[in-house]
Amino acid sequence: MSKLIPSNVASNQTMSEPKSPLVKSVKDYFVNKDHRFYIAVSATVILAGVGLYYFWSPKPPRPKSQRQTQRSRRARSTRPAGNADTGKERGSRNKEDLEVEEFESYTQEQISALPIEKRVTVSQILKSRGNEEFGQSNYSRAMKLYTQAIAFNQDPVFYSNRAACYYNTNEYASAIEDCNNALRMDPLYVKALNRRAMAYEQTSRYEESLHDFTAACIIGEFRNENSTKSIDRLLRKVASIKAQEIIQNRAKRLPSSKFISSYLEAFRKVTIEPYTVDTADNEKEGDNFYRMAETYLNEKQYEAAMEAYGKAIDAGCSNMAEALNMRGTFTYLMGDSNGALEDFKKALEIRSDYVQAYVKCATIYMEQGNTDIAWQEFEEAIKINPNDPDIYYHRGQVYFLNSMFDKAVNEYQRRIELDPDFVYAYIQLAISQYKDGSVTEGIKTCRLGLQKFAQSAEMHNYYGELLADQRNVDEAMEQFDKAIELQNENFALPFVNKAMLCFHIKNDPAQAEEFCRKALEIEPESDIANTIMSEILLARGNLETALQYLEKYQEVARTEAELQGILEYAEAARSHIAFKRRYPQHADRLASLTGKK
Ligand SMILES: *[C@@H]1O[C@H](CO)[C@@H](O)[C@H](O)[C@H]1NC(C)=O
Ligand SMILES: *[C@@H]1O[C@H](CO)[C@@H](O)[C@H](O)[C@H]1NC(C)=O
Repeated sequence: MSKLIPSNVASNQTMSEPKSPLVKSVKDYFVNKDHRFYIAVSATVILAGVGLYYFWSPKPPRPKSQRQTQRSRRARSTRPAGNADTGKERGSRNKEDLEVEEFESYTQEQISALPIEKRVTVSQILKSRGNEEFGQSNYSRAMKLYTQAIAFNQDPVFYSNRAACYYNTNEYASAIEDCNNALRMDPLYVKALNRRAMAYEQTSRYEESLHDFTAACIIGEFRNENSTKSIDRLLRKVASIKAQEIIQNRAKRLPSSKFISSYLEAFRKVTIEPYTVDTADNEKEGDNFYRMAETYLNEKQYEAAMEAYGKAIDAGCSNMAEALNMRGTFTYLMGDSNGALEDFKKALEIRSDYVQAYVKCATIYMEQGNTDIAWQEFEEAIKINPNDPDIYYHRGQVYFLNSMFDKAVNEYQRRIELDPDFVYAYIQLAISQYKDGSVTEGIKTCRLGLQKFAQSAEMHNYYGELLADQRNVDEAMEQFDKAIELQNENFALPFVNKAMLCFHIKNDPAQAEEFCRKALEIEPESDIANTIMSEILLARGNLETALQYLEKYQEVARTEAELQGILEYAEAARSHIAFKRRYPQHADRLASLTGKK
C-alpha cells in the first residue's frame, strides 16, 4: 500500500466537498481518490465518494395499486388549509362557523351518543377548520380544533396535524407524543414519521431522528427530497458526535505496523551522527536504551522502540537529535502533531542541519493549515542541503495533495535525478503526470518504472490502476495479477483493485466480494479493503455483515475525519437495520432499493 505521510490536509478538503449523490464512477475510484498516497486520507476520500450511494441507487418501478389510492386519500385529507374554502359564499361560511362552534362545545358523552358516520363527518369538518387556522398560523386555535376532531374520531391525520402545531410552537415533546399516537394507528404514515424526526432533531435525539427520516424515505420511496437531505445532515451529525466521543475516550495508540513501516520507508535512512563510543567515559546513560530502540525498530516492534527512544531521551544519550526525531515521528503517527513538533524542534536545536526534521515539520504545518510556514521549512531544508532527495519527494507530496500536479511532477523528477532507486518516486511521478492531464507521459513513466523495477508489486499495481482508469480492463487485470504473483509482503491493494473492477465494471458483486475477502486475509486492518468490502455488502443488501466490517475498521481508524467517514456509513447501515426490525413486513421494500445492482 502507500508509503508516505498520513495527512489531514486532504481529509479536510474532502470533508468540505459537497457529497455527490451520483453513483460513483470508476474514475472516482481510480483517479480522484488519493488512497494510494496518504493512507489516512484515503479512507475518507473513498467514503466521501461512495457517500450514501445506495440511498440514491436507481429506484425500482413502484407498484401502483392500493398504495397509490391510499396516498391520494392522505394527500387530500392533509392538504394545507387556507385556500380550501375560498370559493364559498359568505352565508354558508357563517353557517359553517356556527356549526363548528356547536361541535366544539360537544362533550365526550354527547359525542359518544352520535352514530359513527356522523362522528366521522363532524371530525372532518373540525379538521378542515383546523387546517385553515393552521394555514393562518393560528396554532393554538388549530390545536383546539384538532383536539376536538380527535374526540369525534381517532384519526392519525388529526394527531399528525396537531403534532405540526406543537412543532411550530416549539412544544417538541408533545409533538413527538402526537406522532407516536398517529404512528400507532398507521405505522406507514410518512408525514408523521417526518414530523417526529424533525421534533427529535430539535431535541437533540439525533439517532432517533435519523431512524425516522430513514423510515420515511424508504416508505416514501425517496420521493421527498427534504427527507433525503435530512438523512445526509443527520448522518453527519450523529457521526461527528460519535467520532469526537471515540477520539476523546480512546487511548492513543500507534497505527498498524504495516502503516508505520510504509511511512518510515518514505524517508531515506540517514545516520547524521554515527553512533560512536570512544571510551566507556563517553558512554551516556541513555545510550543503552538508544541501542535497544534501534534493535526494536529493525524488528518492527514499534511500540517498544518508541518507549526505548523515550527512555534514551530522558536519561540523556549520544544520539539525542536522532532519538528526538524518532520519538517525534512516533508521536506524530499516534496523532499528536503538536507533541511531535516539539520533539522535531528540539532535535533542530541540537542539529540545525537536520534536514529530515525540517521536512517532517513542514508536513505537519501543512496538515495544520500553516501553509506559509510549511513552505518556509522546505526552503530551510533546501538551504542546508539542496541535494537531499527527501525534500523534493515530500514537497511533491504536498503539491500533490493540493492538486498542484504540474509542480508535483517537477519535484518527483528532481527526486529521481538525485536518487533513481526509489520506486515510489516513479509511481508518484506517473500518477501526477496522469492527473495533470498527460495520459501518455504517465503511462510512459510507468513503463520506465517497470523496466527498472520489474519485480515491484507496487509498480505493477499502480500501472494497473492507470490502465483501469483508461477502462483498459483486461490489461489492468493482468497488471493486478502480476502484482499479486510478485508480492512478497502483505500488499492487499491489487486484490482490492480487482474487486473494484468486478464491482463497478464487470457487474459481478459476488466475485468482487471474493477478491475483497482475499485482500482482508492478507491485510485484515486495511482501510481500503474494509471500506470496499462494506460498500459491496451494503449494495448487496447484507447490512449486518457490512456493519461488522465497518466496526472493525472503526477500531483502527486513525484520524477524526476518517472515523467520521466510517461512522456515517455505519449509521446509515444501522438505520436501515433498524428499519428492518421495525417494519419486518416491508423489508422487501428495502431490499429492492439496496439490492443487487
Ligand atoms: C386565533 O383565533 C382565535 C379565534 O378565532 C382568535 O381569537 C385569535 O385572535 C386568533 N389568534 C391569532 C394570533 O390570530
Ligand atoms: C422542503 O423544504 C422546503 C424548505 O423548508 C419547503 O419549502 C418544501 O415545501 C419542502 N418540500 C417537501 C416536499 O416537503
